[in-house]
Amino acid sequence: MTNTITNATVSVRGLQKYYQVVDQKYHILSGMDFEVKSGEIVSVEGASGVGKSTLLNILGAMDSFDEGEVDVCGVSLKNLNERQRELFRAEKISFIFQQHLLLPDFTAIENVMMPLLISKVNQKEAKERSRDILKLVGLGERTESFPSQLSGGESARVGVARALVGRKQLILADEPTGNLDRDNSRHLMDLIKDLQKEFQFSLILVTHDMELASMAHKRNRILSGKLTPIAG
Ligand SMILES: Nc1ncnc2c1ncn2[C@@H]1O[C@H](COP(=O)(O)OP(=O)(O)OP(=O)(O)O)[C@@H](O)[C@H]1O
Ligand SMILES: [Mg+2]
Repeated sequence: MTNTITNATVSVRGLQKYYQVVDQKYHILSGMDFEVKSGEIVSVEGASGVGKSTLLNILGAMDSFDEGEVDVCGVSLKNLNERQRELFRAEKISFIFQQHLLLPDFTAIENVMMPLLISKVNQKEAKERSRDILKLVGLGERTESFPSQLSGGESARVGVARALVGRKQLILADEPTGNLDRDNSRHLMDLIKDLQKEFQFSLILVTHDMELASMAHKRNRILSGKLTPIAG
């Protein structure tokens, strides 16, 4: 992996992403430039289909891109092979998804431990750290519950605990409250806000939800393939 010199957690220059369908090129992202600094919460808003998830997946090295420079946590994502992408994801970033994607056959604490075990943290330490973070998200009493025994809001909080347990510099969240009712959304939003203050990670927050977006330090929308600041 190439390490780059930049103070920003994320630096994007001239990013282009298009899909070729038969002989027609569809530009999804067309010359995007932006930075996310350390400890910043940045929203990415915009209508359905404008490319929000595409952008997030590119930043998480889950998807490729066609032109430009994308540096995330000191790594240039341009020419990584599959093994380097896996390493990058394991070491540098975490995702919070709308579907929390908990493994159904594992308990809450085992789900949270998973990324640590993949990163070769030993079992005992992984368990302690996972228990601590589950306490922080208010699930100290539910560590042994299986996903099917948890409510939607509780599952979402396990997803947040799993994303945060690795103490990564950057969290990528795609509609993290998308499946929740208003009370649970607010609860999750407050929780993420508090945890961000404590751990100071950078957060890129893809959302349709204005209330959730309002927690961002900087709000942006994707418009015509570019990331544009939202005034105010
Ligand atoms: N493999 C593909 N081939 C062609 N077009 C694709 C492909 N994958 C995604 N797209 C198109 O790229 C565009 C951006 O999709 P993306 O999922 O990033 O949108 P989004 O902003 O996240 O939308 P939503 O708010 O509905 O989640 C869409 O128009 C989609 O149809
Ligand atoms: Mg999407």
